[in-house]
Formats: sequence, C-alpha cells, structure tokens
Amino acid sequence: MGFRVSILLLFLLVTFLSSSPQAFSEEESSLPELSLRLSSSFSKSLSNLQKEINYTFKGVGLLRRAMTHSSYSEENNKALSVLGESVIETSVALQSLRRDVDISAKDLNLAITEASKVEGSCNAEGIRLGLQNIVRVASNTNATSPSVVCGAFRALFGAIAIDAGSSDEAGEVYGKIRAGVGRAVTV
Ligand SMILES: *[C@@H]1O[C@H](CO)[C@@H](O)[C@H](O)[C@H]1NC(C)=O
Ligand SMILES: *[C@@H]1O[C@H](CO)[C@@H](O)[C@H](O)[C@H]1NC(C)=O
Repeated sequence: MGFRVSILLLFLLVTFLSSSPQAFSEEESSLPELSLRLSSSFSKSLSNLQKEINYTFKGVGLLRRAMTHSSYSEENNKALSVLGESVIETSVALQSLRRDVDISAKDLNLAITEASKVEGSCNAEGIRLGLQNIVRVASNTNATSPSVVCGAFRALFGAIAIDAGSSDEAGEVYGKIRAGVGRAVTV
C-alpha cells in the first residue's frame, strides 16, 4: 500500500515538473537580472564607502575583496584583515606615543588591544561606517556579528595599505576615522 502511494506521488511529481517548464525558465531568466542588480548596489556601496573614508582606491578590486567574508567566496578578506589589524595596532601605538612619550608599556598595550579587538572599537567603528550593510556573506551568515564587521573593518586598512603601497598611509586613514569619532563624541 505504502509503496503504491509513493509510486503515485513520484508520478505526480514527474508530471508536475515536466508540465511546467515555463515556470522554471522564467525563474532562471530573472536570475542574471537579480545578480546584476545586487552587484550594482554593491558597487554603489563601495563608492559611497570610499567617500566616507576619504580614500579613493586605484584598484577597487581590493576594496571588493576587503568587503567579502570567507563564507561568501574563496576570494575573501581573511588575509587582508591580518595586515589591517597590524596597521591599526601600529597607528594606535604611534598616536599614543606621540601624545605621551612616557606612557607605560601596560597602558600602551591596553590602548592597542582596545582599538583592535573584536569586543572593542573595531566592531563599533565598523558598524558606524555601515560595513554590516556592505560586506558580502553567505545567506546563513550574520553580517552584523562582531567578528564579521571587525574582520571587514580590519581588512579595509589592509586593502588600503596594499593599494597605496604604504601601511603608513593606511594608518593615517585609520587615524582620521578615529579622530572623527573623537570629534563626534566631544560635540
Ligand atoms: C579628504 O582628504 C583631502 C586630501 O587628503 C583633504 O584635503 C580633505 O580635507 C579630506 N576631507 C575630509 C572630509 O576629511
Ligand atoms: C546578528 O548578530 C547581531 C549582533 O551580534 C545580533 O544582535 C542579531 O540578533 C543577530 N541576528 C540574527 C538573525 O541572528
């Protein structure tokens, strides 16, 4: 009995699939359009982001990669974010020591950790730049999670360092973004 029911269901399924090629081809033909729309809104976000940080990429491919999480593509921001983390740390160390050359090693390390760690301003500044709305992730990955946002934020400065051929220039862009936060807080 159960076997006959399954055969019947299988028959109905096959009949349904073969009788509605129209529906399937329509769905397929709308896919390229959809991905074109998505990719043009991604490009728009990338160009807005460059205005926001006041840095224009010579090769926007690097920024595209920086805004791509490893869940989305093999070509992703993981390695750029390692470089970016060290750019952030160097920039914070330079600024802190310029402000106070007598700062203790302990306080310097605290300042560095606060800036670069996921729980610290790394995530907060990434959110402020709206990276959670830009970064490309797989559909089952939460783009607002701190590790995704912070990874993209770090990768941004790794990408600038490669693009500019200078980690100092990337550190300066980072310093201005932080200074902007400082101004926003005091106003
Ligand atoms: C952007 O950068 C240029 C050149 O570095 C500078 O003159 C300008 O003031 C900056 N603008 C903002 C909004 O930071
Ligand atoms: C995504 O992550 C954010 C930040 O951790 C959290 O507030 C939000 O609830 C998460 N969303 C989903 C759908 O899990």
